[in-house]
Amino acid sequence: MLKDKCALVTGGNRGIGREIALKLGSLGAKVIVNYRKDEEGALEVVDTIVKNGGEALALKGDVSSYEEAEALIKKSKEAFNNIDILVNNAGITKDKLLLRMKEEDFDSVIDVNLKGTFNCIKHITPIMLKQKGGVIVNISSVIGLIGNAGQSNYAASKAGIIGITKSIAKELGGKSIRVNAVAPGFIKTDMTEVLSDEVKDRLKDSIPLKRLGEGKDVAEVVAFLCSEGASYITGQVINVDGGMVM
Ligand SMILES: NC(=O)c1ccc[n+]([C@@H]2O[C@H](COP(=O)([O-])OP(=O)(O)OC[C@H]3O[C@@H](n4cnc5c(N)ncnc54)[C@H](OP(=O)(O)O)[C@@H]3O)[C@@H](O)[C@H]2O)c1
Repeated sequence: MLKDKCALVTGGNRGIGREIALKLGSLGAKVIVNYRKDEEGALEVVDTIVKNGGEALALKGDVSSYEEAEALIKKSKEAFNNIDILVNNAGITKDKLLLRMKEEDFDSVIDVNLKGTFNCIKHITPIMLKQKGGVIVNISSVIGLIGNAGQSNYAASKAGIIGITKSIAKELGGKSIRVNAVAPGFIKTDMTEVLSDEVKDRLKDSIPLKRLGEGKDVAEVVAFLCSEGASYITGQVINVDGGMVM
């Protein structure tokens, strides 16, 4: 379904990004697995894709740096000759109530989640324009829609991602570049591992489908948005949250 396409997944070494990279690889895309620190994880993802008959490459790069994002995209293009799909998945949290939140907590979350998304879109757009098409999927969060006490930095970054998604979708729609966002609810990864069992149980109770999500649940929707089946969908935010927000 994605044969001859090349996909760059930021933060593809673990968690949701890992599942997205594996899914796109299983559909025939050549996958660039970006990571910031965890080279071992990235190589494991590459290995799994290759063992299943696909092509993949791990590339290090901190997306919050304008220059590193530029180098990442340049190297990705050199590796597979084109980049058809960009999944802006890399993200961090630094949760604190506002009164305790330091300037650095706010800045670093905005830098990785929002500026990182901007950096990658900015550097990939000339390539996609030259190719006369492309697909961008940005991983937002339901927290960007509803807010959450203790996550004002994260909520702002994820709401910002929705703003950039809609704006760039309007700018680039006429050039056959589609831009959508996926807003996961609570997904079982390292990011949510810190929650106590009590909090997880309370969350499950409040979710209509009565379970936390899996990385695979998000990867399926990302894969659909990357596919031809979604060729008339742009500027949208798709919640993958078991019905948590409706
Ligand atoms: N889990 C959830 O419930 C949930 C819900 C809604 C939205 N999301 C979003 O989904 C995305 C993935 O979350 P996750 O739960 O899979 O998180 P995770 O398990 O903590 O993984 C975060 C990923 O981001 C990468 N990363 C962090 N900073 C980076 C940087 N500056 N440059 C490049 N890569 C960087 C990490 O790479 P290293 O390992 O190399 O540091 C890692 O691959 C995030 O954007 C998150 O906000 C998650």
